[in-house]
Amino acid sequence: MGSLGPGRKWPGAAPALSEKSGYEAVHAKLGGTAGKFPVPVRSGAGTGFLFCKRSNDLLKGDDIVNYSFSERVKSLKPSAIREILKNSSAPGVIPLSAGNPAPDAFPCEDIRRISAELLESTPIEALQYSVTEGYSPLREHLLSYMRKKHGVGGESDDILITSGAQQVMDLLTKTLLNEGDTVLCESPSFIGSLNTFRSYRAKLRGIPMEEDGLDVEQLEAALKQEKNVKYLYTIPNFQNPSGITMSLEKRKRVYELCRDHNVLILEDNPYGDLRFAGEDLPSIKSFDREGVVLYAGSFSKVVSPGMRVGYAIGPKEVLQKMVVCKQGEDVHSNIWAQIVCHRFMTECDYEAHLQRLREIYRRKSDVLLEAMERYFKPLITWSKFQGGLFAWCTLPEHIDMLDFVKRAAQEKVCVVPGTAFLTDETESCHSFRVNFSTPTDQQLTEGVKLLGELAKKEAKR
Ligand SMILES: Cc1ncc(COP(=O)(O)O)c(C=O)c1O
Repeated sequence: MGSLGPGRKWPGAAPALSEKSGYEAVHAKLGGTAGKFPVPVRSGAGTGFLFCKRSNDLLKGDDIVNYSFSERVKSLKPSAIREILKNSSAPGVIPLSAGNPAPDAFPCEDIRRISAELLESTPIEALQYSVTEGYSPLREHLLSYMRKKHGVGGESDDILITSGAQQVMDLLTKTLLNEGDTVLCESPSFIGSLNTFRSYRAKLRGIPMEEDGLDVEQLEAALKQEKNVKYLYTIPNFQNPSGITMSLEKRKRVYELCRDHNVLILEDNPYGDLRFAGEDLPSIKSFDREGVVLYAGSFSKVVSPGMRVGYAIGPKEVLQKMVVCKQGEDVHSNIWAQIVCHRFMTECDYEAHLQRLREIYRRKSDVLLEAMERYFKPLITWSKFQGGLFAWCTLPEHIDMLDFVKRAAQEKVCVVPGTAFLTDETESCHSFRVNFSTPTDQQLTEGVKLLGELAKKEAKR
């Protein structure tokens, strides 16, 4: 244990401790126990130090403090999949596991120019605190753009700018959900959202996916059977992870069913602009006249995920509560990034930019499809995808999927096991997710070849 406990004030000015050498200097000054290093501890009373062996020991918490975690956090488990994927960025590894935009999809030149001008002409606007609802010119422009182009946002709706679409899932769940309430989710579905719902101790009820979107009969059954259903979470376009797009008939039926059962729909659409085949379909939100749908959008896949700009369009009453929750989370989203997004949308040719992205992903998906035709058939099948960043591939039942993914990782090809995306991770699953946006063309072909060869070997075992 240290010579100064947490909360005890350091006598005099606290030494700066940014580098390891700084730690050593303070260690000498404080005369800490051999082999132990001082770690700064900050509390209401000021800054002090604890001596601990190394930073790793501090993380383990042994011989310092017994941390008593909340029930919510205690039940969260580190993912077993991380073990499989932990080397996915090591040199020589073919990364088919990420979900990042392609490196050539970023509008770097425009962002550089807009940022330079902004910091030159109105730096304080970009660097000052701002309002929780978001940068007004962006909110106004985006809402009118979404209304005109996609029919998203009616008279009783408003818009809230968030720190990525991920924060929409968080804020809506915080706003609506009591512990134990039910969230209906497509299964498989986006792991980031599922984990957010889990962190609020939601009961997740999975609705199986079919080739044209979620199984509406199962949805109806769940709406009838489950108690305290707060919302249905759906990704109707090029779903992550399955790549599946919900048909128009199903969109209408899903809307009617949820409306009739007084259940909100959280429509998450980060990939809608990335359609490279087939015809655009109307969003579920575009049918909404009754305040049933909250729509989540994002600049992550069309401008930059690092800028963390997303948004929610939905009933004013719900958004007002989400604004209060957001105040307690991050006050407001990055104002510099919001201004850049606004100027990028209004000063550059935004539609031409989206078209360029669709071409990039069409070409990449062609490389993947060609390789899958050549190396996957007939053992591995895949579901049809007309946009987005992912293909959902399925092994024959006699091949153990988790084992296959582990062996693939040993052979330096990383894909994500399908179980990661299930509402119940213990269910059996023979599928895995392949991303085609991040790898190079050569990596895509080589990776698919290796997976195909591995499946043949596994099938013979
Ligand atoms: C379906 C889906 N929703 C939401 C997100 C989160 O996006 P954002 O970067 O806007 O938080 C992702 C990210 O991959 C996603 O795939």
